[in-house]
Amino acid sequence: MTSPALPKITKSIVLVGLMGAGKTCIGSRLAERLSMPFVDADAEIEKAAGCAISDIFELYGEDAFRDGERRVISRLLTDPVQVLATGGGAFMDESTRQRVRESAISVWLRADLDLLLSRTGRRNNRPLLKDGEQRDTLKRLMNERHPKYAEADIVVDSAREPPNVTVDRTIDALRTFLKSETVGEKSG
Ligand code: S3P
Repeated sequence: MTSPALPKITKSIVLVGLMGAGKTCIGSRLAERLSMPFVDADAEIEKAAGCAISDIFELYGEDAFRDGERRVISRLLTDPVQVLATGGGAFMDESTRQRVRESAISVWLRADLDLLLSRTGRRNNRPLLKDGEQRDTLKRLMNERHPKYAEADIVVDSAREPPNVTVDRTIDALRTFLKSETVGEKSG
């Protein structure tokens, strides 16, 4: 059975969620399925800075990284519609959340701790997971960040399943969201 057509997507889709939630993996496949360009904000930050994120943290510190992240995402949101995967901390920034609210559809890829741990792995180049117990760090970040991620327009559970199954569920959720927006527009 073919799924009902998706209403035209006129806004970028912004994926948020913790490290290991699958933002890049699901985002790139989602973009392909929707025939939209895929952009990875972390890769764009590295391009703009001319060095790896781990080097930005080490050389300039996290605050400088966050400034760059905010600027790059704000710029990317002025580009034509795209699927944009953001780094796990990006949606913690109030002005980034505001920009996303104004101009995009946000999708929280929610994953449980064990899944995040298995995806982030032992050897890791993510600065926030370099020191200490990854489980403790991820648990703390879940507590801090989940309330902000929950502000996203759509929540999709990232599960142990083939990526295309998660993409299917994301498209279904988008369809429901877009339909409710259209209904809201008509009655509002
Ligand atoms: C971070 C997540 C990373 C990257 C940086 C900080 C975070 O991106 O932006 O290491 O604060 O959670 P991913 O979520 O793509 O790993």
